[in-house]
Amino acid sequence: MKKNVWLIAILGALTLVACQNKPKNQIMKIEKQSFGKLPDGQEVSLYTLKNQAGMELKISDYGGIIVSWTAPDKNGKYEDIVLGCDSLETYLKGVPYFGAIVGRYGNRIANGKFSLNGQEFTLAQNNGKNALHGGLKGFDKKIWSVTTVEGEEPALKLSTTSADGEEGYPGKLEVMVTYKLLKDNSLKIDYQASTDKPTVINLTNHSYFNLSGAADVLSHEVVLNAPKYLPVDETLIPTGELREVKGTPFDFMEKHTIGERINDTTDTQIKFGGGYDHCWVINEKADKKLLSVATVYEPTSGRVMEVLTTEPAMQFYTGNFLNGTIDGKKGVKYGKRSGFCIETQHYPDSPNKPAFPSTVLNPNEKYETTTIYKFSAK
Ligand code: GLA
Repeated sequence: MKKNVWLIAILGALTLVACQNKPKNQIMKIEKQSFGKLPDGQEVSLYTLKNQAGMELKISDYGGIIVSWTAPDKNGKYEDIVLGCDSLETYLKGVPYFGAIVGRYGNRIANGKFSLNGQEFTLAQNNGKNALHGGLKGFDKKIWSVTTVEGEEPALKLSTTSADGEEGYPGKLEVMVTYKLLKDNSLKIDYQASTDKPTVINLTNHSYFNLSGAADVLSHEVVLNAPKYLPVDETLIPTGELREVKGTPFDFMEKHTIGERINDTTDTQIKFGGGYDHCWVINEKADKKLLSVATVYEPTSGRVMEVLTTEPAMQFYTGNFLNGTIDGKKGVKYGKRSGFCIETQHYPDSPNKPAFPSTVLNPNEKYETTTIYKFSAK
């Protein structure tokens, strides 16, 4: 009898220990706080997403902006790795798309014009003579409707309706962008849209990364799995050529630091971009396969960022226009090349370049793309 009691006690204790060691599938709560008000009184919110590993993102319903995003260094220390501002007011003063959802058409459309099915459409020329990043009030300046999804891998679903004719684009567009924070320190971004008239669309996220917190990103080591890129004219519109990167400062097939060749103005393309501000071709077939397209490693922190996407191209922009005038987080004035962007997307000016993979979305079609930013350290 006594023996049995002991046996039960031991079994009980063992079960208890086993249960404690089993990783808990914790429901990760999403916090919502005020981020201020727009001049017209509309409330703006900030949502905090966390995973069990320790990654934390703060995302606003204004522009779907990723305001902060922490990632571990080689000692397991989580620090903010994106550029941004401490207050909504600073974002409202005007920032170059820090962390925002960009649409309807990310990147440039030549002369702010395109034709679709024989009809010409005119857009705002908000970048010299070209249209850039969706126009005067693009998706980066909209208040999005948010649904929170709590769980082991918390998510925010941001949706908006863009009216027919908004910023000159045809068709009423229903858009949904889902930010999902995965257990393995990845952020998965799913973009979905549908339209009631033929239109063009090219959505992306414009986060500026700095994996070290240093004043510039020149010592970050970059690999881009892209053997070709799109040379541009002086206004950064692709010429239409797909050029081999081999033998140029655009060759990142093997790792190179950002700084190594960025000032090589003997290359006209570096001159036009003021550094890197070009679109690399990832997948000429544009068959929507999820591919690992870029890896960035920062040696002092050991942080690694891998980018995976179903998009056929990526704009690699090295913050060449940043000039220390914006009040960044914690009083930092972001200087030239203090952040880099990998904006996954279709080719710029596709609506005017029939040979490029199409960016046309027709009624009864679904626009669906996915991009993943995955962090680790070594
Ligand atoms: C992009 C463009 C750049 C610049 C930034 C925002 O990525 O390619 O030329 O306009 O956005 O400043």
